[in-house]
Amino acid sequence: MADDIAVRLDRVTKRFGSVTAVSEVSLQVRRGEFLTLLGPSGCGKTTLLNLVAGFLEPDQGEVYIGETRVTQVPPFQRDFGMVFQNYALFPHMDVFENIAFGLRMRKVPKGEIQSRVEEALDIVRLGGYGARHARELSGGQQQRVALARAIVIRPQVLLLDEPLSALDKNLRARMQVELKEIQRRVGITTIFVTHDQGEALSLSDRIAVISEGKIQQLSSPDEAYRNPENSFVASFIGDINRIPARLVEVSGDEVAIAVGEARIRVPKARCHASRAGDPVWLFVRPEVLEPVPEDTENAILGTIYAHVYQGAHIEIHVEAGALGTIHLRTRDDGVMARWPVGARVGLVGDLGGAMVFPRDSRD
Ligand SMILES: Nc1ncnc2c1ncn2[C@@H]1O[C@H](COP(=O)(O)OP(=O)(O)OP(=O)(O)O)[C@@H](O)[C@H]1O
Ligand SMILES: [Mg+2]
Repeated sequence: MADDIAVRLDRVTKRFGSVTAVSEVSLQVRRGEFLTLLGPSGCGKTTLLNLVAGFLEPDQGEVYIGETRVTQVPPFQRDFGMVFQNYALFPHMDVFENIAFGLRMRKVPKGEIQSRVEEALDIVRLGGYGARHARELSGGQQQRVALARAIVIRPQVLLLDEPLSALDKNLRARMQVELKEIQRRVGITTIFVTHDQGEALSLSDRIAVISEGKIQQLSSPDEAYRNPENSFVASFIGDINRIPARLVEVSGDEVAIAVGEARIRVPKARCHASRAGDPVWLFVRPEVLEPVPEDTENAILGTIYAHVYQGAHIEIHVEAGALGTIHLRTRDDGVMARWPVGARVGLVGDLGGAMVFPRDSRD
């Protein structure tokens, strides 16, 4: 196996009774990479992490850490550090002992334990906190101790299961920056689990978007945002409108789709449906659309339903009958006066970045 691969899963399947939590997943994590497993609750993220860690054994498939096949190897013989979904510290121990625990288990000499724990505390910016009790720490500090405990053993791989989910919004944003900075400085291969797409976009080298135990797309955050491969990924990454439409015509480099009464052209490369007449979803980001008079040619028609002021931008919700509610986002706060609630409006925009995916007629 190529030696730049730190973790490899080869067609791994894990079932719990009738539930297939992980279904034929193949994945290669590069050395030093920050790879995120992103998906909704219950999609199999923790199960995947536990398969890498060895807390679970797959029903089928193989797991490798570095060059070594570890599929049947118990966790304590695999080389990883882990922060669990609830990141529980040992409450009866002080910070130093919490971090030293893994080193004592590995029979590291006393003097070395001292220096390595201090180094780990410095890395997470908790120098001098060694004597504090775990219960005397804030949530963010506990979080950093959990991280120090995972990295102090200098594992090949760091496994992080929603480590920031218990923190409030501001602290979480700060910890995201710190986590990324620590990961970069230590250069450690990291598999990070989250169901928060914003967190995944901002932290990751690559994102594996997961649904129902399968990887839907594995790509850079930018690719996942700009070029989703299917409608699940398009719906899950970033705020986006999903508007029911119909493919009317495929010609040259463009396709024409009917959105209500409007005829809209989208680059053919961005359309994943092929037959005229097919029901499709048009995916378009809220910042792309702008309000225009309702008699504008080929505008999507609706009624202003609400303005939601968000500080840096304003969200406008447009009720568009059978098309559902369509969201716009603008920095121009003059729109609230020009397009008051209840006004009829047309919507247009540069749809060069929009996406079209087949729509099941049941959708
Ligand atoms: N020990 C278990 N026994 C039975 N079913 C399980 C077990 N662990 C997980 N499952 C099921 O497997 C599926 C995947 O669970 P998993 O914990 O991996 O999801 P997750 O993506 O981590 O979700 P969350 O975001 O809520 O933590 C779920 O349907 C879950 O109910
Ligand atoms: Mg989980």
